[in-house]
Amino acid sequence: MSVVGVSGSPSATSKSRRLLEDVLAALGESGGATALVDLAVLPADALLGRRASADVEQALASVASADIVAVSTPVYRATYSGLLKVFCDLFAPGALVGKAAIPIATGGGPAHALCIDHGLRPLLASVGAVVIAAGIYGTDAEFTDRAPNASLLGRVRRAADEAVALAEGLRAARGVMSSSTMER
Ligand SMILES: Cc1cc2nc3c(=O)[nH]c(=O)nc-3n(C[C@H](O)[C@H](O)[C@H](O)COP(=O)(O)O)c2cc1C
Repeated sequence: MSVVGVSGSPSATSKSRRLLEDVLAALGESGGATALVDLAVLPADALLGRRASADVEQALASVASADIVAVSTPVYRATYSGLLKVFCDLFAPGALVGKAAIPIATGGGPAHALCIDHGLRPLLASVGAVVIAAGIYGTDAEFTDRAPNASLLGRVRRAADEAVALAEGLRAARGVMSSSTMER
């Protein structure tokens, strides 16, 4: 099972990226091969589509090859960051078809927790991903020195387990569909 995490925070001490790292660690313990794409270090003009960049192409290819895609973002103005948006705008139509997706966001408080369901869920579904039932939302108060508290880590573990089950189901469905195609 290959897993790619995409971090959409420009912050060098990002809390949402920390949750993403914890999700990748949990999925690694479950046997997944994990990789992290940090959008903050990619060239901005290439992310805006003004020029080509091998690093951005590699990031897109990495996402395209994954079974599970985890996406993290800070809440900015009640939704996901512009950094994450410009990267997702570079996806081909259907780029995440057949993949399980984990939405992750952190915000200054609980008011914008629906960023997960009103922002990230339709964003990921628009390129074909099947998003797990409950994403991960954390508030700044749930971190101490960038470390998430036990409750938040419990949500990380649950989301990782759900994503593995979903990705296995999607893989099995692909097998059934390709064998029924061969029988025709
Ligand atoms: C430009 C900007 C806009 C923000 N807008 C919101 C917001 O609308 N709602 C909210 O809950 N937090 C908001 N915040 C707070 C961040 O979402 C919060 O601190 C988050 O945990 C930062 O994540 P990061 O450490 O991964 O960058 C905003 C922060 C910044 C810098």
